[in-house]
Amino acid sequence: MPMEITPDRWRATGEYLDTVFGEQDDQLATLMPRAVAAGVPDIAVSPSVGRLLTLLGQLAGAHTIVEVGTLAGYSGIWLARGLAEGGRLITIEPEPAHADFAAAEFIAAGVADRVEIRRGYGLDVLPELVRTMGAGSVGLVFLDAIKTEYPDYLPYATELLRPGGLLVADNALGSGSWWIDAKPGESAERDAADEFNRLVAASDEYEAACVPIREGVTIARKRG
Ligand SMILES: C[S@@+](CC[C@H](N)C(=O)[O-])C[C@H]1O[C@@H](n2cnc3c(N)ncnc32)[C@H](O)[C@@H]1O
Repeated sequence: MPMEITPDRWRATGEYLDTVFGEQDDQLATLMPRAVAAGVPDIAVSPSVGRLLTLLGQLAGAHTIVEVGTLAGYSGIWLARGLAEGGRLITIEPEPAHADFAAAEFIAAGVADRVEIRRGYGLDVLPELVRTMGAGSVGLVFLDAIKTEYPDYLPYATELLRPGGLLVADNALGSGSWWIDAKPGESAERDAADEFNRLVAASDEYEAACVPIREGVTIARKRG
């Protein structure tokens, strides 16, 4: 019999992962509390997911990373730390207050020279990036914006990624208001996450898995 995962055990698992794998410096540790005090919502990835983002960037040898959904720059700093030497992160954010907060944090983290904030909507900026940077130009794409748009981000991410590049999506299994085991039709976000996961899993273009850390992270390597 597998161990029963009670809500308390799930919470303790997250705390354990953040304690053991989520070590962070003072800036990262205080970033989201400071952001929340400034009116930014408390919806960043956890420290252990942040560490995973750095690790995945390093494993991909990513010279260019694209993030959809900057918020306060928390995940962006972890991503910037996973860039290859001389690499750059392009992070997309339409909300001016979030972008402004993140810009200051990128300076404080010493990564501003490697990070470009594109102020706009994912579905406007992603096709622009395909046009301007070209297909196969990106080592890692991290999706963390509008959950119902994940299936629409997918073709642009696939075009941007080079063979061997990584597609990474947060909230692949849930968020504060829905979980993947809800019935189809109960939550548009659940249904979009389910559609996205199934598209990636069934795609000939990817080798994919989903890691049930925090709210679920789908990780897919572009074949070729
Ligand atoms: C979950 S938060 C991102 C959290 C961030 N990646 C982190 O972990 O630190 C989602 C962000 O996406 C932004 N957003 C909203 N609509 C968007 C869109 N259409 N395209 C890109 N970003 C969007 C929100 O303003 C918010 O800052």
